[in-house]
Amino acid sequence: MAAVEKRVRLNADPDFWPGKDHAPMTGVDVREDCVKIFWADGRVGHFHPLWLRDNCLSPSCYHPEAWEKIQDLLAVDPEDRPASAVLGADGELEIHWASDGHVSRFPGPWLRRNCYDDWALEERRPHRVLWDAAIAGERPEVDFTAVMQTRDGLRDWIYKLRTYGFCIVTDAPKRSGVVTAAARRIGFLRETHFGTDYSVESKPNPENVAYTAIELKTHNDLSNCEAPPGIQFLHCIEFEATGGESILVDGFAASEKLRGMDPDAFDLLAQTPVVARFHDYDWDIRHRAPTIAVDHNGVVQELRVNRQLEAPLDIPNEKVKPFIKAKQALVRMLRAPEQEYRFKLRPGEIMSFHNRRVLHGRAAFDPNSGRRKLEGCYVDCDQAWSRLRVLERAE
Ligand code: OGA
Ligand code: ZN
Repeated sequence: MAAVEKRVRLNADPDFWPGKDHAPMTGVDVREDCVKIFWADGRVGHFHPLWLRDNCLSPSCYHPEAWEKIQDLLAVDPEDRPASAVLGADGELEIHWASDGHVSRFPGPWLRRNCYDDWALEERRPHRVLWDAAIAGERPEVDFTAVMQTRDGLRDWIYKLRTYGFCIVTDAPKRSGVVTAAARRIGFLRETHFGTDYSVESKPNPENVAYTAIELKTHNDLSNCEAPPGIQFLHCIEFEATGGESILVDGFAASEKLRGMDPDAFDLLAQTPVVARFHDYDWDIRHRAPTIAVDHNGVVQELRVNRQLEAPLDIPNEKVKPFIKAKQALVRMLRAPEQEYRFKLRPGEIMSFHNRRVLHGRAAFDPNSGRRKLEGCYVDCDQAWSRLRVLERAE
């Protein structure tokens, strides 16, 4: 039995594995409504006893192979308390519960990974670097062969996407189908009404303005969807035309600047859900959401800025003018030359970016001066961040 348990433990949930800079637990102190854990690196965690009971890892509460909770919520006694809590010989926190004698054991690495003190939440918050036009001198890049053939290359790519919201893949073959192969290294393709992938070329009878040669102001794609696609890929296959420079702008950086300069405009955009809509003969896809979405801490999570997809406003009359002025303030900020990174995407480069953070656009080009052909697709963020977490697990 002990051997089986050990094997299950060793092979179990990666949350249980010691991390690269694993600090063992050195002490435990039980108070009325707090179990304090001390780690060798000086950190102290504060766990509510009910939190510990709610997250019990014993095989009857947490399935050791499925790595999922199986304890029924209603079986948790909110008044339960530890009869004892000690560090066992194996270095785990061992709790005997007063209500029913149930025993819980928590490995130190698991407690550390799930500790919810402010310092711990901060330690785990992904690093986010906001940028402006100066990014031109140090733009995030990765090599195509490295992302296709190595774990480190793939990890580097997704890390840069998460940190900067964009990354240019260089030296890719200039062929159709390459962009989907690269995107699939990250995760499943996100299918939309454009299909699983699409080519961007100027053509007669365009179904949207991207398929013309006219300027595309910076925008988020598919702001009319319940969840606009997360990571967007645009692969340059041919580019002989004059004009057509690409533009990227960090929407999070611009929103933060707006919040500093005009907090009322920021709040109005964060608190006024408006409808975005795509419609043609086959489709009428609409969604209502604020222009700037913030989380419960006020941190900007996503933008929805796409003039083509704006539905007529249906907000109270007294809000129409302040709302349009607020949106103009945001768009003015997004278009400020000191915010924009402008560059010519070269054949063999894939521009990848977090579509709900980094807005993209292009200058007009002259379709008579030569061809310009891009191929694109999307992968959702949960796929990308999952892949990164798995690649970052201790091996
Ligand atoms: C698009 C788009 C940009 C470009 O297709 O969504 O914004 O460079 N294209 O053509
Ligand atoms: Zn676009």
